[in-house]
Amino acid sequence: MASNGSSAGMSSRLAVTAINGLLAVKPLAAVAKRQARQKIVKRAEANGIPWRENVRQLQQQNLQADYDAIANPNLEYPEYYCRPFHAYAEGNLNWQAAWEAESAAMAVHAILCEETGDRGDFKLRRGYTKAFRDRVEIAPQRIVDLGCSVGLSTFELEEIYPEAEITGVDLSPYFLSVAHRRGQERRSSIQWRHSAAETTGLPAGKWDLVSICLVFHELPQQAALAVLKEARRLLKPGGYLTFMDMNPQSEAYKTMPPYVLTLLKSTEPYLDEYFSLDLEGAIASAGFTPPTVRFNSPRHRTLIARAL
Ligand SMILES: C[S@@+](CC[C@H](N)C(=O)[O-])C[C@H]1O[C@@H](n2cnc3c(N)ncnc32)[C@H](O)[C@@H]1O
Repeated sequence: MASNGSSAGMSSRLAVTAINGLLAVKPLAAVAKRQARQKIVKRAEANGIPWRENVRQLQQQNLQADYDAIANPNLEYPEYYCRPFHAYAEGNLNWQAAWEAESAAMAVHAILCEETGDRGDFKLRRGYTKAFRDRVEIAPQRIVDLGCSVGLSTFELEEIYPEAEITGVDLSPYFLSVAHRRGQERRSSIQWRHSAAETTGLPAGKWDLVSICLVFHELPQQAALAVLKEARRLLKPGGYLTFMDMNPQSEAYKTMPPYVLTLLKSTEPYLDEYFSLDLEGAIASAGFTPPTVRFNSPRHRTLIARAL
C-alpha cells in the first residue's frame, strides 16, 4: 500500500505534469494566465490595494513626454530581456506592465506581513535598508540603483540618504517613465538612466554605494555575473554593494508545493538560474569582500559587501 507521503508525492507530480501540459498549449495557457491575473487583481483590491484605480490614474496621465525624456533610442536590448515576464507577452517592455508595476509589488509583498495595503512592500524595503544601514560606515554621497523599475527601491534609498546624489538604472523605458513622473510628483532629484545594468555607461570608480534590489531573480546567470562586474567597476574601493532578493534557502521556497513553484517559474523564466547561483561566491569573485548575509523577511535575504 502506498504511504501518505508517496501518494502525496504522486499527486504533486501529477499536478506539475498537468500544469506543464496546460502551459504548453498556448490558448489554454492564455486562459489560465487571464484567470490567474483576475484573481491577483481581486485579491489585491480586497487587501486595500486599489489596483485598477492606480492603473487608471497612470493611464490618464499620458507618460509619453516622460518616455521621450528618458528613452535611449539606440539601446539594444539583450535577448534574454525580451522574453515574456510576469505573464506579459512583451515582458517589461510595455505600458500595461509599467502601469501595474507598483500595484503588483504591493500585492506580492502584502503576503509578507499581516497588515494590508502597501505595508508589506514598505516593510520589505525598510527591512532591506535597515539591514545594511548600520553596516555602511560612510554617508554615501553617490548611489546607483541597478534595475530600479518604477522607482520604489530608489525612493527608499532617497528616504534614508536624502543628501545623496542618486541614479536609477533600468532597461525598461516604460518603467522609467513611471519613475520619472513619480519623481516629479515627489520633487525628487533622482536621475533616471535607460541602460542595461551590466553596461550602464556611468563613470568608473565614482560611486559610494550600488544597490541591486529584487533584480537577480529576473536574470540569467551570465547577466547576473556581468552586473556584479559592472557594480565593481562603478564603485570606489571600499564602496558598498548592497543586494536584496528572494532567499532560495527560506522555508517558504523549500516547502512550496512543486506545482506552485511550476506556476511561479512560468512567469519568472530565470528563477532556476537564480536559485542555483552561488551568489556569495560570485560577489567575492567579482572583486568584493565575502558578503555578510542577513534575512530581512521570511523569504528574502540581504547581502552586503565592500569593493576591494
Ligand atoms: C522586479 S523589478 C524590481 C525592481 C526594483 N529594484 C524594486 O525593488 O522594485 C526588476 C527590474 O529589473 C529590471 N531589469 C532586468 N534586467 C535588467 C538589466 N539587465 N538591466 C537593467 N534593468 C534590468 C527590470 O526592467 C525591472 O524593472
